[in-house]
Amino acid sequence: MKITRLGHAAVLIEASKNILIDPYITDNPMAARKIDEVPTIDYILITHDHFDHFGDDALEIAKRDGATLIAVHEVTVRDDVAKSGVKVIGANIGGTYSDNGVTFSLTEAVHSSGGGSPSGFVIKIDGKVLYQSGDTAVFSDMKLIPKLFGHINVALLPIGGHYTMDEKGAALAVEYLKPDITIPIHYDTWPPIAADTGLFTKLCEGHTGVKVLEPGQSYEL
Ligand code: NI
Ligand code: MN
Repeated sequence: MKITRLGHAAVLIEASKNILIDPYITDNPMAARKIDEVPTIDYILITHDHFDHFGDDALEIAKRDGATLIAVHEVTVRDDVAKSGVKVIGANIGGTYSDNGVTFSLTEAVHSSGGGSPSGFVIKIDGKVLYQSGDTAVFSDMKLIPKLFGHINVALLPIGGHYTMDEKGAALAVEYLKPDITIPIHYDTWPPIAADTGLFTKLCEGHTGVKVLEPGQSYEL
């Protein structure tokens, strides 16, 4: 399995099925690829409807590849989504959608949105448990996530602050989540979310292995 950070919170998971999370690519000043350089996608996960997570790229790729778009209910019934003809699965926090042996569970996120609750996702694929928290503050119920879904192999967590938890908040999240590996996301795209990955790595010492991925870099597990 290969996990590639495309930039910002956009993450590509290449495994028995290809999964794309929060594809903010075309207008992303830090994007490592153009959407025509993204491989064929099976599932697109949208954590919430802010522009830096859900824009035209998601629908364009979904149409191109016949991918299934999974998000909280209100996002999936938006006019532009309904008109696009894209296959959607609307779910909600605490729920799980299973398809082809892959499971997608929506988790709480302490954030805001234009419509519907913001969420994170736990993905179980090829015997691994992955967690992308979505935009969120740290919250102590994160400790329920490994209890419910099992040991987390890889967590993808925002560290940029201002709109989400910062390095310190994300390091506390790691103590609740106990993932083997943590990949920081949602930082350095714009000045307000500049982050210190060295500080984050230091704060996480003894709790998780931190893999800092520049846009376009991958982690294999
Ligand atoms: Ni947001
Ligand atoms: Mn965001």
